[in-house]
This record gives sequence, structure tokens and C-alpha cells, in this order.
Amino acid sequence: MMNMRKRRWARFVIPGAVAAWAAAVISCTSVNRVMVVPPSIPGATYVGSDDCSACHEAVTKKFAGSTHSKLHVNGGNAQEIGCESCHGPASVHVQNGGGLFTIVNPGRNPDTCFQCHVDKRGEFSLANAHPVMSGDMSCSDCHSPHEGKASDGGAQLTTVSDGCVKCHAAQSGPFVFEHEAAREGCTVCHSPHGSVNQKMLKTRNATLCLQCHSQVQTSTGIYIGSRDHASFLGQGTCWSGGCHEAVHGSHASQSLRF
Ligand code: HEC
Ligand code: HEC
Ligand code: HEC
Ligand code: HEC
Ligand code: HEC
Ligand code: HEC
Ligand code: HEC
Repeated sequence: MMNMRKRRWARFVIPGAVAAWAAAVISCTSVNRVMVVPPSIPGATYVGSDDCSACHEAVTKKFAGSTHSKLHVNGGNAQEIGCESCHGPASVHVQNGGGLFTIVNPGRNPDTCFQCHVDKRGEFSLANAHPVMSGDMSCSDCHSPHEGKASDGGAQLTTVSDGCVKCHAAQSGPFVFEHEAAREGCTVCHSPHGSVNQKMLKTRNATLCLQCHSQVQTSTGIYIGSRDHASFLGQGTCWSGGCHEAVHGSHASQSLRF
């Protein structure tokens, strides 16, 4: 059902010539996640982005307009900002005339991203998170690293949800009875990186739904929509206990029940 790529860095059979690279990736398995030392290419130094365009013209052109190309750092290390801020020092790669495994590819390991987005390591380590720490998914499944705003893959999802739907078709419909909430995107209800709550929900109780649906207390009851919910609210969340279980949309009922 899910078009998942398999564990990325385990998938590659590493030839002898690049055993040094493999040795640099010392992984130690703790109870439920694998921690990997940030990858680097032994002996490599920074060369700047100028050389890259000769062989990677398409990437270089797109990159000019992206968020990450606009980052500025003052001082002697400024040349490190650019391609090498994510791909690491590239001298070995350039001297070899390019090639695989002579330069860091963050598509196989998010540690390069965590250097600057340190808070994301925490988000992906929460109890309910997309499996980026295990290597089953990568940041670039949702973000385009070289193009436009870095979050185009992400921010777009908050309106059209296309990025989520390529892996989660079942939640996208079309449904006979749509839930209009989904028009505002999956992230009105889900934290895309990870959450303490099950199913990566932003909140674990009715607050999730009451962002948009108001609850009005009168002398006759507690109204949500046109219905008195006083006796329902103790039964569980809005989406459990036989209530609005088809929260993404329903083929059977306008009130989003199965
Ligand atoms: C002389 C040509 C050449 C130059 C210069 C060059 N590359 Fe490459 N690069 C290649 C080739 C060839 C490949 C292998 C492509 C393939 O097989 O898909 C490659 C692959 C890569 C990869 C993927 C590596 C992997 O293991 O998945 C990255 C990342 C990369 N280059 C970044 C850069 C950056 C950044 C620069 C500038 C600092 C650069 N390259 C300069 C030719 C070059
Ligand atoms: C924000 C971090 C970041 C920066 C900056 C960056 N890249 Fe990448 N690059 C990535 C990621 C992530 C991937 C893996 C993409 C994937 O798995 O689909 C990648 C993959 C690549 C590849 C492998 C082929 C491909 O497109 O998948 C090449 C070549 C490459 N980058 C070149 C460059 C060059 C040249 C620059 C500078 C002009 C650059 N990158 C700047 C993050 C970055
Ligand atoms: C050298 C530091 C650095 C590295 C490495 C880096 N970033 Fe960023 N990134 C930034 C800064 C600075 C911003 C802009 C400020 C912000 O939003 O935090 C940014 C912004 C972003 C944004 C939101 C941008 C937008 O256009 O709205 C995303 C998404 C992102 N980065 C993803 C990544 C991913 C994925 C990687 C690894 C492939 C990565 N970054 C690597 C520094 C970095
Ligand atoms: C499952 C898809 C998905 C994956 C995987 C993912 N992101 Fe995101 N990311 C998003 C979405 C969606 C947003 C926009 C969030 C919003 O608008 O509420 C976002 C926003 C961001 C932002 C900008 C806003 C913020 O929270 O600071 C950064 C930076 C970022 N992501 C970095 C990363 C990094 C680094 C990785 C990998 C370690 C990663 N993301 C992996 C979907 C993803
Ligand atoms: C590249 C494929 C891919 C993309 C893109 C993707 N996901 Fe996922 N998603 C997964 C995988 C894999 C899991 C873990 C499934 C598991 O653990 O059984 C998952 C799990 C989830 C779960 C928790 C499911 C559960 O049963 O606990 C939610 C919620 C979710 N994703 C929402 C989203 C949202 C929202 C987006 C867009 C921001 C998104 N996903 C983008 C692959 C993806
Ligand atoms: C109105 C809030 C809301 C929106 C919008 C929303 N979800 Fe959900 N989602 C939920 C709730 C609540 C659950 C938990 C359902 C349960 O536990 O029975 C859930 C569960 C999931 C699951 C786990 C599988 C399942 O059905 O239990 C996935 C995957 C998922 N959502 C993906 C998405 C995607 C993709 C989008 C955007 C197309 C999206 N969601 C939009 C509220 C929402
Ligand atoms: C982003 C805003 C938003 C969120 C969050 C949201 N909804 Fe909705 N929902 C709507 C809109 C808009 C409609 C259609 C107008 C209406 O009926 O109020 C709707 C309609 C409904 C309906 C159909 C009402 C009917 O009988 O026609 C139900 C049931 C419902 N939502 C339940 C939920 C539940 C349960 C949650 C929490 C998991 C939730 N909603 C979260 C916006 C939202």
C-alpha cells in the first residue's frame, strides 16, 4: 500500500574503495533507534560551490532560488555555505571527477540537516513520528532540498496535501461525504514530523476538533453543531467510541461515521 523505499543506507552495497566512508558511519543501536555519527568523507576539504555546476548544471540552476542558497555567513568559512553545507567537504569528490560515495548524500542520513535544524531531531524522536531516524524515510520525501522554498514540498501540503497523499491514499478520498477540514491540509490535525500523541495528532482530545467546531453550553445541554453532545463527551474522543470514526471523510454518513 505504501510506496516506501527501504532503509536507505543499508540498501547500498558498499564497495571496498569506499570502505573508509563506511567506517566513518559508526552506528550503535540503542533500545529503539539507531544513532549514526554525522557522515563525512575522510580527508576531504571544502572547495566551494563553483566546481559543482560543471557537472550538476540542473541542480545548480534550481538551487539559485532556494531558501538554503540565500543563507549568508561572514568570515573565512563562508565558502562552506552553499552545496557543501549539506553535502560536506567535496574535495575528494571533485578530484575523483565525481561519483557515488565520495560525498555525503543527506538523502541517506538526516544528520546533516540536524546540524542546523537541531530541534527536528527531537521531533523525529518522539513516540509517534515518521520513521526518519530509522532510515526508512528521509527529509527529502517531503522537502525538495534544491528547489524553491525548502518547504515547498512541505508548505504546499498544508493546502493541497499532495505530498502526504502519495503515501497515504486512503485518507485523501474522494469520499461521498467529504470532511471540509481536509481542505486546509493534513497539518491542521497532524504534526508532520512527530508528536507525543498517537497518530501524530496535534492534540489528543476534543481540542483538535474544537479548533473549528464551536462548543456552546446552554441550559439544555452542550451543543456542537446542532446536536446536544452532553452525553457523548464522556465516551471518548470525538473520533472513537462509535462517533466520528471516519474523520477523513465517509462513504456512509454525513456525520463522518462508518
Ligand atoms: C567532474 C564532475 C563532477 C563535479 C565537479 C562534481 N560532481 Fe558530484 N557527481 C558527479 C558524478 C558523475 C556523480 C555520480 C552520479 C550518479 O551516478 O548518479 C556525482 C554524484 C554526486 C552526488 C551524489 C552522491 C551519492 O553518493 O549519492 C552528490 C551529492 C554530488 N555529486 C554533489 C556534488 C557537489 C556538491 C559538487 C561541488 C562541490 C560536485 N558534486 C561536483 C560528478 C561531479
Ligand atoms: C539543504 C541541503 C542541501 C543543499 C544546500 C544542497 N543539497 Fe544536494 N541534496 C540534498 C539532499 C537531501 C539530497 C538527496 C535527495 C533525495 O534523496 O532525493 C541531495 C542530492 C544531491 C545530488 C544527487 C542527485 C539528486 O538530485 O538526488 C546531487 C548531484 C546534489 N545534491 C548536488 C547539489 C549541488 C550541486 C548543490 C549546490 C548547488 C546542492 N546539492 C545543495 C540536500 C542539499
Ligand atoms: C547550514 C545550515 C543548514 C543546513 C545544513 C540545513 N538547513 Fe534548512 N534552513 C537553514 C536556515 C538558516 C533556514 C531558514 C530559517 C529557518 O526557517 O529556520 C532553513 C530553512 C529550512 C526549511 C524551511 C524553509 C522555507 O523555505 O520555508 C526547511 C524545510 C529546511 N530548512 C529543511 C532542511 C533539510 C531537509 C536539510 C537537510 C537536507 C536542511 N534544511 C539543512 C539552515 C540549514
Ligand atoms: C512526512 C513529511 C515530512 C518529513 C519526512 C519531513 N518534514 Fe519537515 N515539514 C513537513 C511539513 C508538512 C512542514 C510544514 C509544517 C506546517 O506548515 O505546519 C514542514 C516544515 C519544516 C520546517 C519549517 C517549519 C519548522 O517546523 O521549523 C523545517 C525546518 C523542516 N520541516 C525540516 C525538516 C527536516 C530537517 C526533516 C528531516 C529530518 C524534515 N523536515 C522531514 C513535512 C515533513
Ligand atoms: C514517503 C511516504 C510518506 C509520506 C510522503 C508521508 N508519510 Fe505518513 N507515514 C509513512 C510511513 C512509512 C508511516 C509509518 C507507518 C507505520 O509505522 O506503520 C507513516 C505514518 C503516518 C501516520 C501515523 C499512522 C499510524 O497508524 O500511527 C500519520 C498520521 C501520517 N503518517 C501522516 C502523514 C502526513 C500528514 C503526511 C504529509 C505531511 C505524511 N504522512 C507523509 C509514509 C509517508
Ligand atoms: C480533522 C482532523 C484531521 C485531518 C484534517 C486529517 N487527519 Fe488524519 N487522523 C485524524 C485523526 C483524529 C486520526 C486518528 C483516527 C483513529 O485513531 O481512529 C487520524 C489518523 C490518520 C492516519 C492513521 C491511519 C488511520 O486512519 O487511523 C493517517 C495515515 C492519517 N490520519 C493521515 C492523514 C492525511 C494524509 C491527511 C490529509 C489528507 C489527514 N490525515 C488529515 C485527524 C485528521
Ligand atoms: C480546519 C477546521 C476543522 C477541523 C480541525 C475539524 N473540522 Fe469538522 N468540519 C469542518 C468544516 C468546515 C465542516 C463543514 C461545515 C460544518 O458542518 O460545520 C466540518 C464538518 C464536520 C462534520 C459534519 C457535520 C455534519 O453533520 O454535516 C463532522 C461530524 C465533523 N466535522 C467532525 C469533526 C471532528 C470529529 C473533528 C476532529 C477530529 C473535526 N471535525 C475537525 C472543519 C473542521
